[in-house]
Amino acid sequence: MTHHHEPTPDKRPRGSSTAHPHAHHHHVAPAGSWDERVEWSALRADEFESDLRAATEALLEAVDLRPRMRLLDLACGLGHSTSVAQAHGADAVGLDISATMINAARRRFPGVEFVVGDMVDPPVGPWDAVICRFGAHHADPAWLDAAYRVLGPGGRLAIAEVVVEPGAAPRETHGMVDAAEWRRRFERAGFEEVRVEACDARLPAEMTRGRPSPPTSIISARRGS
Ligand SMILES: C[S@@+](CC[C@H](N)C(=O)[O-])C[C@H]1O[C@@H](n2cnc3c(N)ncnc32)[C@H](O)[C@@H]1O
Repeated sequence: MTHHHEPTPDKRPRGSSTAHPHAHHHHVAPAGSWDERVEWSALRADEFESDLRAATEALLEAVDLRPRMRLLDLACGLGHSTSVAQAHGADAVGLDISATMINAARRRFPGVEFVVGDMVDPPVGPWDAVICRFGAHHADPAWLDAAYRVLGPGGRLAIAEVVVEPGAAPRETHGMVDAAEWRRRFERAGFEEVRVEACDARLPAEMTRGRPSPPTSIISARRGS
């Protein structure tokens, strides 16, 4: 695997020079569009990965990944989970709405296929497996119907998410919902055998403003034959 050259601080977006990522003990993700955030993410991605890797392993287990399976990784960001799926023998494709993220993913993992797109309108497939690591709450909930549509019969879907306390107001949780709501959404989209399981992955302190990581879960299901 080739390691691309990390962006240097002087390549970060203008206006960010006063918020150097190493200036504070707990770094906070910059506000703004995903494109503005991507360089910050790229700088810190490898550190984050040690905390997030458990989610990738749990996702691949939940979709029962086998060599040659066709796997689609939604909201793949810098493509770490896509590349792990590929390393496990899958024919993996990563999709993200941010062209900046996708360009960075292509540089980082040249042997993996990445496409720019909205997860509400994914490539047709049919896919044997669809995964999404901490991206599902960003998209219009209609993405679940689309995932059902592009999965082949018996195909599996698995997402990693922060699952909030029951009844928390979505506006205060950035669109993250409780486990029961994920279960309802999966079932409404037609999925069977919906499972919600605790996951060992932790969000990096940079993303939680230094607070302990909230619990993370894997929600998975199967498209009927
Ligand atoms: C929290 S990051 C997670 C990235 C990656 N899955 C990971 O675990 O490192 C969320 C990602 O969702 C992407 N995103 C947001 N809305 C999207 C959409 N509608 N369709 C596809 N990707 C989207 C963003 O560009 C960003 O890369």
